[in-house]
Amino acid sequence: MVETRIIHPLHNRADLEAPVVFVEGKGAILLDSEGREYIDGLSSLWNVNLGHGRRELADAAADQMRRLAYASAYSGYTNEPAERLAKRLIEISYPNMSAVYFTTGGAETNETAFKVARYYWRRQGQPTKTKIISRIHGYHGLTLAAMSATGIPTFHTMFQPLVPGFVHIVPSYPYRYPGSMAEALEEAIVREGPETVAAFIAEPVIGAGGVIPPTPDYFPKIRTICDKYNVLFIADEIITGFGRTGRWFALGHWGVEPDLVSFAKGVTSAYLPLGGVIVSSQIHGVIHEAPPTERFMHAATYSGHPTCCAVGLKTLEIYENENLIFRAAPLGKRLLDGLQQLRDLPVVGDVRGFGLMCGIELVEDQSTKKPAIGLGAKVLAEAKKRGLLTRVRVGQGGEHPIGDTLCVAPPLVVTEEQIDHIVRRLGESIAVAARQP
Ligand SMILES: Cc1ncc(COP(=O)(O)O)c(C=O)c1O
Repeated sequence: MVETRIIHPLHNRADLEAPVVFVEGKGAILLDSEGREYIDGLSSLWNVNLGHGRRELADAAADQMRRLAYASAYSGYTNEPAERLAKRLIEISYPNMSAVYFTTGGAETNETAFKVARYYWRRQGQPTKTKIISRIHGYHGLTLAAMSATGIPTFHTMFQPLVPGFVHIVPSYPYRYPGSMAEALEEAIVREGPETVAAFIAEPVIGAGGVIPPTPDYFPKIRTICDKYNVLFIADEIITGFGRTGRWFALGHWGVEPDLVSFAKGVTSAYLPLGGVIVSSQIHGVIHEAPPTERFMHAATYSGHPTCCAVGLKTLEIYENENLIFRAAPLGKRLLDGLQQLRDLPVVGDVRGFGLMCGIELVEDQSTKKPAIGLGAKVLAEAKKRGLLTRVRVGQGGEHPIGDTLCVAPPLVVTEEQIDHIVRRLGESIAVAARQP
């Protein structure tokens, strides 16, 4: 056992007997302290989109740190990198977007989005509109309210009870539910009472919950339902933003505009912590026009951090200069086509993907779709031995079953050869793990 004094995210003693100590990275490759090489099959945590070892980003951080590492962005103060990054984010997101509140990560971003939704309705004289509707299998982070929106029960078990006013509905999940399932949102709004619902939050493609793309009609229907009942639509694009699906942001695939966009991860390609909420001009107006007694009393020390924002600006420049946003579609197709070949393995129930994010759902039986639970961890162990790192959505039975789902989302700079290695190593790992007792 390596002695560790870190309480790790998802800390568990059994995982710490031989932890991998990462020391270096280059492109889609990570190196550990023993000199072993791994393909970073999940862009670390779906965030190192530009790959490891980018000097330009280190230089952008160093330049900004030398000039002005940090300054408060509280009302009355601002800084150039944050202003420039906000403008650029508004340009590349959706036509109805108008302003940005900066955070330092995903969960804080969604907390902010929920507070903006409450604030918006209170300012409109509708203070009872406070509830948040989210989806089963959705992942929105693990601070108290974000955890309550997250629809994966294992994250709740030891931290009950959830924050009141969070309601979960079934997602669009073609492998297990017929139709688009958008009607589940309308049912929930009507049941709860539209006068109590502030917002609906959804990932355009469920990520950590098992890479679940929706049916093509799902989000257009969701937009119509939100409009009908005056419910704000928060797009959690913390994974799907910044090229992962082949566009800057994902809802454009279905011609839909949200009211708020949560972003993080890819905005700096993980080189520094940064996130934020982009809001529509309507919401911006409500915040901007408020009288002093109703001012937006939300804040955090590192909101608008100049160095993080300077790295964000450089990151966006690299996506553009290297045409990486558009690279995700052909690379994703190669990955998905390769993974589809694994359907011949009897434990592979579903293979799905959207842009450069794919999922392989494991089952005990292809015809009954009985979830395989526990097999995913064995596959990960085999993949690690073969120099491939990724993560699994741990499955569950019960009312909303899902099998262990292997998630694959390499950096946008991954080579075609590396994609083929991922497919081969994963195929071997699944086959070997499935034979283990
Ligand atoms: C869609 C989505 N939302 C929110 C989060 C939470 O982000 P963080 O871990 O930075 O709090 C994540 C993290 O994986 C995510 O994938």
